[in-house]
Amino acid sequence: MNLNIQWYPGHMTKARRAMQEDLKLVDIVIELADARIPRSSRNPDLRELTRAKKRILILNKADLADPAQNTAWKSRLEAEGETVILTDARGRGALKDIRSALEEASAEKRERDRKRGILNRPIRVMAAGIPNVGKSTLINSLAGKASARTGDKPGVTRGDQWIRISRTLDLLDTPGILWPKFDDPETGLSLALIGSVNDEILPMTEVACASIVRTERLYPGLIGEHYRTGPGSPAEMLEGIARSRSLLKPGGEADTDRAARLLMNDLRKACLGRLTFEQEEEKR
Ligand code: G4P
Repeated sequence: MNLNIQWYPGHMTKARRAMQEDLKLVDIVIELADARIPRSSRNPDLRELTRAKKRILILNKADLADPAQNTAWKSRLEAEGETVILTDARGRGALKDIRSALEEASAEKRERDRKRGILNRPIRVMAAGIPNVGKSTLINSLAGKASARTGDKPGVTRGDQWIRISRTLDLLDTPGILWPKFDDPETGLSLALIGSVNDEILPMTEVACASIVRTERLYPGLIGEHYRTGPGSPAEMLEGIARSRSLLKPGGEADTDRAARLLMNDLRKACLGRLTFEQEEEKR
């Protein structure tokens, strides 16, 4: 299926420029990606932009992703030299791991400061990633209730605020936003599968058919089992979903548009179980 989703909204250029400015101010970057699509939810440019910084990679929404794949991806990315933490940014459990990774990442910088006679300079951190990966949620969780806004600092544009998240760490309250890189049609499908592309611009039936193909490849039989439909082509399966859920048009014809929306919604909300749509062992 050749599903080509490409969309680069104009405000993204502005967001990227703002992030590049903010990057100059920080020592550590927390990069957020979606654990269900660890490849397509990262923009490779961020690696380039943060080359001189410490980086911590958060595979967020791990609560929606396949647990075995979470473990596999973490090992693989760690073997590639990344510091990786699996999280549900809405919960408190993630915070301990993130805080200790931040402390570890900042220790070296503090030591360098100490040698140069700079004492008690807070280490500055920012969160970055593509839209909808959970950046704001994470910032709020890290900020917690007791957080103190430290106010504008010289050199900070846009009225950014720093949130003191520990004795030695300041977090920028505005996340850096990058647009995903649509380098092939499969990337567009991955982003649609997690609900990261505006549905308004998507041909939903086509997207649902492509999603059936992807899900069947990775989790054979799961869709048929969940919706109690027989096997068949993606279009036949979509029709089966419509019939089994009584999504019918006035004449009794299967309403595949509504079935497409139902399926996409269910896949995104993990109603068919915790699924990872880009698996670690898959070769591209
Ligand atoms: P962003 O700043 O990167 O754009 O993302 P944001 O924090 O706004 O989060 C986007 C959506 O993802 C929010 O849901 C948020 O609650 C949800 N979310 C964030 N982290 C996690 C996670 O680790 N696990 C799960 N399951 N969801 C997460 P929303 O639909 O916009 O709002 P709501 O459903 O919370 O009301």
